[in-house]
Amino acid sequence: MDDLIEMLQREVDRTPLRENLKLTPEQRALELMALLEAAEEFQRAGRVWRASRGEALRRCCSLYRSDTIRRGDRMSKRQELIDGLNEDLNLELEAVLRHVYHISTATGLLGHELRELLKGSVEGELEHAQYLADKITAMGGDIKMNVGMPKRVKSAKEMLSIEVAAERKGILNYTMRIAQAEESGERGLAIRLETMLSDETDHAEELERLGR
Ligand SMILES: [Fe+2]
Ligand SMILES: [Fe+2]
Repeated sequence: MDDLIEMLQREVDRTPLRENLKLTPEQRALELMALLEAAEEFQRAGRVWRASRGEALRRCCSLYRSDTIRRGDRMSKRQELIDGLNEDLNLELEAVLRHVYHISTATGLLGHELRELLKGSVEGELEHAQYLADKITAMGGDIKMNVGMPKRVKSAKEMLSIEVAAERKGILNYTMRIAQAEESGERGLAIRLETMLSDETDHAEELERLGR
């Protein structure tokens, strides 16, 4: 025990204790109050820090969530655009097949005029199809060919009305696709689709003129 007391006397700095003993009881009470106030201040600062840390964490989680939703939204819009382009691709390929079929089977005076008109646009429709296929691939999409065969019809009049309806459908689709492309930030695609929309409008108007 004596050894322990001796060791404590040697190792422990007793200066603060001695200094404290020099103080009057009143001074000691004031020191104690200051100490308690400091402890309270530490506790309050700790509470503020924990609350702000929680708020920062909540804000961070909410930012992450909204960013994930935005990214998911962008991805689904892009996929919708790719799906739409695949639909357009199939319509263009159907136009090529239909034109070939009508060019070889249309008869009569109307049939002759229809043949001449369609011969002039087969190549253009094929170019549209190729552009769309390239674009789908460039956007990281899969090409989905699901081409419908031309309906077997006899009269040039029926062929003409089928051609007009198909061109009008193409115009409607490209109008929608341009809006989707703009929304997805695909400005170059939107511009190219504008040209294709203008081509299909010319085709529809020329065909409609034949029917009058
Ligand atoms: Fe086309
Ligand atoms: Fe066309």
